Amino acid sequence: MAIERTFSIVKPDATRRNLTGAINALIEKSGLRIVAQKRIHMTKAQAETFYGVHKARPFFGSLVAFMTSGPVVVQVLEGENAVAKYREVMGATNPANAAPGTIRKEFAESIEANSAHGSDSLENAAIEIAFFFSGLEIVG
Ligand code: CMP
Repeated sequence: MAIERTFSIVKPDATRRNLTGAINALIEKSGLRIVAQKRIHMTKAQAETFYGVHKARPFFGSLVAFMTSGPVVVQVLEGENAVAKYREVMGATNPANAAPGTIRKEFAESIEANSAHGSDSLENAAIEIAFFFSGLEIVG
């Protein structure tokens, strides 16, 4: 297995309930390292570009409204097999299907307000990291 980097977002439902630390604790317990992190309030344009792949989906407008409804914490996570590992740590997109102990099972409110985003492939991880971070902001 290789050391990888993946991209993570602590979503507005989680920052609103002061859960950033609790989510970071689950990330760190898994062995992943938080090598970059910042709290931002996404603009509509940023959210529309970031989720551009979902533009045709019926939930797109609602997703963009939700992701711009409050602050988020964007992160770069590093470790062995980081892309797949973080998807395990998050659990299924729909919290109703997420395994016990995962971020979404423990904290998510709904399929939309599901507390965390993680990249779905190494290729998308690189694109998503570059969208929010410069190389200088990532300290491994
Ligand atoms: P995320 O991993 O951030 O990627 C796209 C997001 O769309 C997803 O998590 C969910 O929060 C959100 N979403 C809202 N409704 C749906 C749906 N019906 N199916 C999949 N994703 C949805």
